[in-house]
Amino acid sequence: MKDKLIIFDTTMRDGEQSPGASMTRDEKIRIGRALERLRVDVIEAGFPAASPGDFESVQAVANVIKDSTVCGLARALDKDIDRAGEALKGASHARIHTFIATSPLHMQKKLQMTPDQVIEYAVRAVKRARQYTDDIEFSPEDAGRSEEDFLCRILEAVIDAGARTLNIPDTVGYSIPQQFGATIKNLIERIPNSDKAIFSVHCHNDLGLAVANSLSAVMNGARQIECTINGLGERAGNASLEEVVMAVRTRQDVFACDTGIDTREILTCSKLVSSITGFPVQPNKAIVGANAFAHESGIHQDGVLKNRETYEIMRAEDVGWTANRMVLGKHSGRNAFKSRMTELGLVFDSEEELNDVFMRFKQLADKKHDIFDEDLQALVSEASFEAEDEFIKLISLKVCSETGEVPVARVTLRIDNQEVTGEAEGGGAVDASLKAIENLVQSKASLELYSVNNITNGTDSQGEVTVRLEKGGRIVNGLGADTDIVIASAKAYVNAVNKLQSSDLRQHPQKGNV
Ligand code: KIV
Ligand code: ZN
Repeated sequence: MKDKLIIFDTTMRDGEQSPGASMTRDEKIRIGRALERLRVDVIEAGFPAASPGDFESVQAVANVIKDSTVCGLARALDKDIDRAGEALKGASHARIHTFIATSPLHMQKKLQMTPDQVIEYAVRAVKRARQYTDDIEFSPEDAGRSEEDFLCRILEAVIDAGARTLNIPDTVGYSIPQQFGATIKNLIERIPNSDKAIFSVHCHNDLGLAVANSLSAVMNGARQIECTINGLGERAGNASLEEVVMAVRTRQDVFACDTGIDTREILTCSKLVSSITGFPVQPNKAIVGANAFAHESGIHQDGVLKNRETYEIMRAEDVGWTANRMVLGKHSGRNAFKSRMTELGLVFDSEEELNDVFMRFKQLADKKHDIFDEDLQALVSEASFEAEDEFIKLISLKVCSETGEVPVARVTLRIDNQEVTGEAEGGGAVDASLKAIENLVQSKASLELYSVNNITNGTDSQGEVTVRLEKGGRIVNGLGADTDIVIASAKAYVNAVNKLQSSDLRQHPQKGNV
């Protein structure tokens, strides 16, 4: 019987710390549900003390997730622990994750505390967190650059105080696999009460070693990996969930443990996180990149046709890739539509939501002959993006674009129930359209990102556009999908402005100095 390797997903906490990857409460609920279908063991939903918006998001995720444990991050401060405890009240299984820095550099320069004071804060935080739940995780921040003797002291003390998961973060991505694995082994061997806790790792990817370091730790006794979908996370990101899970699964000859992940849900999660955050997945990304299972060379193609295993170590379908299948078309009825949505794990909270997406499907089917699974996923994304706060609505858009002429766009919006129309010129059709919208809405936000991705193949594919706007330190991502990318761009811009207007004022998490 193999050990269980616990998968702790921090896409909605560390992943959200990627500049621009902010998520609203409703987006976090959608990601949380997708992670639960993926059978992630622990979902770190946010940092409740960071802002009222973060608190509400963690609370909302805690209230809807039933199978996975929901976790909230807290500095080793009473007020943070209490906020996390409050936010997690409704959770079926709640975990509080508290942390404090332990490297000489962080203790002296950032915290300005002595090592003894740091231990005192850590123990106090763990004891306070236990008033809310028995499931307490402790992280010595910057463990990758901390002294092993000090780690042993503080970890022994927090286990005595009641911590049951000890997470060893390589906060700045400084470690090297062999050395990081040896550290985990030494800690487990040297800490007298280490058998009372599960050792976990949390690796950053600054040297491109986050997955390798995590796997080395597992080979040396760690039984929890903290990771994110698509490797999202602070700076160069965290260990990518799909890579660690598939490495452990594919190399069962090497690992003494396995995860409980339903790997067929990996691709859906990857696409969802990519579309919500506006972070595209590079084509050559392992497991979830568009080329991850594509064979270009004739020799490889020939080999795979003769025997798949000649050049493939995993099956594409095991991580959720299906051939672009035409699932529905213009004549498909509501029942066929609903049952395909259910098969794809796309759930609706109400009949109205289902009807709304069905109506969008019919409109799309009028423009596009073949409707693929990816199209259905985009329809749901777009509907839920729009549903959040539709103060401004795109009514119509007309663009004149001709060789040798300056493009002009004419747009009509409904703003707070009043129709307004405006025109603008631009460098191209998209530029003119977004300028015309901005003239009407006067958001005064700065455009941080504009990106277009085709959802399926073919010139009739829907384009999915992400627009990232920044105003007063607040960053939002707007999404729009359409077979016409100019219209998709306008939808995405309107969506982003609506989000800026919403009351969900959230700061970048993890501000503060303990
Ligand atoms: O990278 C890090 O050290 C963290 C901790 C809060 C675990 O994200
Ligand atoms: Zn981190």
